[in-house]
Parts: sequence; structure tokens; C-alpha cells
Amino acid sequence: MDNQNKSLIDSFLDEIQCALSTIYDNSVPEAVNKDNSKLNKEQTEVSTRIMRINHMGEVCAQALYRGQAAFTRKEKMKDQLYKICDEENEHLKLCNLRLSELNGEKSVLNPLWYAASFALGAIAGLNENRWKLGFIEETERQVKDHLEESITSLPAQDNRSRLFLEEIARDEEKHRDTVKNIGSEEVPKLVKKSMNGLSKIMKNITYHI
Ligand SMILES: [Fe+2]
Ligand SMILES: [Fe+2]
Repeated sequence: MDNQNKSLIDSFLDEIQCALSTIYDNSVPEAVNKDNSKLNKEQTEVSTRIMRINHMGEVCAQALYRGQAAFTRKEKMKDQLYKICDEENEHLKLCNLRLSELNGEKSVLNPLWYAASFALGAIAGLNENRWKLGFIEETERQVKDHLEESITSLPAQDNRSRLFLEEIARDEEKHRDTVKNIGSEEVPKLVKKSMNGLSKIMKNITYHI
């Protein structure tokens, strides 16, 4: 086996491993205080559905960024994307923790969402000369809007989920600033609309399963 083939296979196996741990790993943040929230059955149900959607969003974030990182030829951009992935992974852990506290299930369709998002990221990576990091900037913008919607939809009593989502939203804002500073071009309106439409479908399905 020559080196080039070996490294391609290694990269492929790394991606598979990362996909599996993103989808199935239940790791949680190391230092988080105890859950003191007291929610009734109905409130728990609403919070669970909202946190399942946000968990799915973090699964997709990993896939999008890893997809773009895998296909970009620019080493600096690749490094930045993997750095953002590390931070997105902390969000995933917060969502894992909250979902387990609520005794909620993750979306059964996460493998499908991961694959679709990885493919979108790959397309963005292949279009990097035109869009640069515009795809990510738009993703972070839509995620921030979605988080604000989630925060207001949570039951008033669920301060813990609210706190977690507010922390995540602050990071997403920083991610957007980071990619703006590196240099991002606005993606075409049609791409923005498609991203928005796709995420609406995903959110509606994930609300239920
Ligand atoms: Fe995130
Ligand atoms: Fe982000």
C-alpha cells in the first residue's frame, strides 16, 4: 500500500470513527453543577423535544464542519474548522447531559442527518474559492436564530436548559465572528433558502423522533 492510499484510508477511518462517536457517544461536560430543576411531565416532554432538536443541530454542526474540513485544500482553513469542531463538541456534550437528565432520547435519524450535513459541508469545501467560509457564517447565523427560538419556547421553569442554550448561543456568535474575520463571502440566496428549508424539515421531524 503506498503512502497516499494509506493516508486516504486513514482519513476515511477517522471520519467514520468521528461520525460514530458524534452520533452514539454519550459523553458529558466534566464540571457542571447538579440539576435542581423540577419539571412536571408535560414540561419535561416539551424540554426533551427542544433539547433533542438542539442535540441534532450539534450533530449536524460536527458533520458540516468535518465535511468542509475534509474537502478544503487550504491548510489554515482546515485547522480553523477542526478548532470550531472541538467547541461544537462541547455543545454536543451539554445537549447529551441535558437529554439524559430529562430521560430523553436522541433523534433516531441522527445517522441520516449526519450524512446529509457531511455531504453539504463537502460541497461547501469544494466551492471554497467562491464562498470561502460564507457557508459556515450562514449556518451559524441560522443556528443563532434557532437557539433564540428554542430559548423562548422552553417551559419557564426549565432554567437549566435555558442556561445551557444561552451558553451555546454565545459560542455560536463567536464562531460567526471568527469566520467573518478569516474572510467569508455571502452564499447565494438560493443556498440560504435551501439551508433554511432543509433545517425546518429536519427540526419538524426531530421534534417527534
Ligand atoms: Fe454548536
Ligand atoms: Fe458554532
